[in-house]
Amino acid sequence: MRIMMDLVRAIRDDKLTLTNILRAQQEYHEQRRWSVFDVLKTRRPHRIDPRDRAALWHAARAELTTQPAGIRLAVDGVKLANEIRSANPVGAIVLHAAAAWSARYWLEEEAHHEVAYGMLLEMLGDAPIPEDEVVEHRGFFPEDNYARVCVLQACVETEAAVTYGEMAKKAHDPLVRDVFLAIMRDEVQHRQYFASFAQALVDAEVYPAKDVLAMAFTWLRPNGETHGSKREKQSEREGFVNWWERVRTGDDDDLALHDEQIRSAQLQAKKERSILKVVAEATGQRYATVHELQRGYFRSLVAGRRAESGVSMIVPRGEADADVDLASIAAAG
Ligand SMILES: [Fe+2]
Ligand SMILES: [Fe+2]
Repeated sequence: MRIMMDLVRAIRDDKLTLTNILRAQQEYHEQRRWSVFDVLKTRRPHRIDPRDRAALWHAARAELTTQPAGIRLAVDGVKLANEIRSANPVGAIVLHAAAAWSARYWLEEEAHHEVAYGMLLEMLGDAPIPEDEVVEHRGFFPEDNYARVCVLQACVETEAAVTYGEMAKKAHDPLVRDVFLAIMRDEVQHRQYFASFAQALVDAEVYPAKDVLAMAFTWLRPNGETHGSKREKQSEREGFVNWWERVRTGDDDDLALHDEQIRSAQLQAKKERSILKVVAEATGQRYATVHELQRGYFRSLVAGRRAESGVSMIVPRGEADADVDLASIAAAG
């Protein structure tokens, strides 16, 4: 069983209903579930390596930030679906499907991740994450264009999947390795669900392809979001924690994540390829490099402005960035 792509074609041509989509989501979810308590009931971590501990320390905190994003997508999806229902019934079905998946399965699966990493960290001798820190990571997720948030989440899930995959590969302890591997597999599915919803929102003409390109470019551009705490300048956030901006990297820090654990050239290249694939799936536009994506994104802005004004316009290089509201970027994993 696989995550459904081309939802809009199936709704229009094959008479796929919202109920059909919700059942497929449930079936897929049941097929893939695993139990944190079963995994941790009979096994203990033995090899306490500082890099494994640092990886768990970061992952346990990263997973705390998904809940606000899941709530936002669940609430705003239903709200927007109701607003567009008579004008765009197919778009409304897509939004209901995205909102339901977020409320039911995404939140539930991310709860597994939060609990599994937290418990494992404590089994290695760490104190539980302080309550104030837990509460801080529950800061409200900002409102934004739904398609852009789906692409943003696809980017964050990619970030998590690639990083956890690397941690599973390099972990010294077999239990730590197995937990990272199980969670990495969930994150890969999440990335695909977000690609599917972004694609359907574009196909149903709820949002233009430009919005997908904008967010992917914001993420991947030089000094973009994917570089997290390594960016020269951090953006101000209003109460929401972006975990990748909190990654500790200091030389004297026992909890630092090393470049080869999260931001080596090889890992960044993998993340880039994966996100360019999301762009291709969502828009049908294929870009081999970030530079090509930039050109495609700028072209989409020119086309959009032409359509609005009815005249030919040339957008100077750099001006296109203004179209992306960086202050509103925030997400989980
Ligand atoms: Fe997660
Ligand atoms: Fe996830």
